[in-house]
Amino acid sequence: MSSLRVLISEQQIQARVREMGAEIDRDYPGGNLHLICILKGACFFLSDLARSLHIDAFVDFMGISSYGKSKTTSGEVKVTKDLDFSVEGADLLIVEDIVDSGVTLNYLIHLLEQRKPRSISIAALLDKPDRRQRPVAVSYVGFKIPDEFVVGYGLDYAERYRNYPDICLMSSDHPS
Ligand code: IMP
Ligand code: MG
Repeated sequence: MSSLRVLISEQQIQARVREMGAEIDRDYPGGNLHLICILKGACFFLSDLARSLHIDAFVDFMGISSYGKSKTTSGEVKVTKDLDFSVEGADLLIVEDIVDSGVTLNYLIHLLEQRKPRSISIAALLDKPDRRQRPVAVSYVGFKIPDEFVVGYGLDYAERYRNYPDICLMSSDHPS
């Protein structure tokens, strides 16, 4: 059995996402920003972040899997859905739910660099800096969190809990 405890509330998430949107607006005044949403976890964040922007933005999706059903990375990254559009010459903003080991984003940055975009930045709602195994420069971080497994607002455990509006800690109940 596992129980959920709210770590970051819906209100806190919404306020922070609006702030991140304002920062991105300021940094890309010319617009034409390509938002690349990493499926499936980041789709809720993408949807709120994209609507908080006032600049022109494109939206595209990429499917990446590195976890299977476990709570830790398998270290193996697989593209399960590629982008629909070319990114050559474009300003890219990768929109990700959480940076944990950094394996996924490190791999993705190398992959996208080969397609000759003008720039690549990362926006991640959550960052677990203590867990990093590969270096990743994240330009926009929503919240730094401790090394604990979280679910909700897009994040899942074995595909469950993605639709919770809050970010919750998932801890195992131990019989006392
Ligand atoms: P990384 O490659 O280890 O940085 O893992 C990034 C991916 O792992 C994220 O896109 C999430 O899908 C997943 N992930 C990492 N930590 C958590 C967590 O606490 N809850 C749910 N998914 C997580
Ligand atoms: Mg993910």
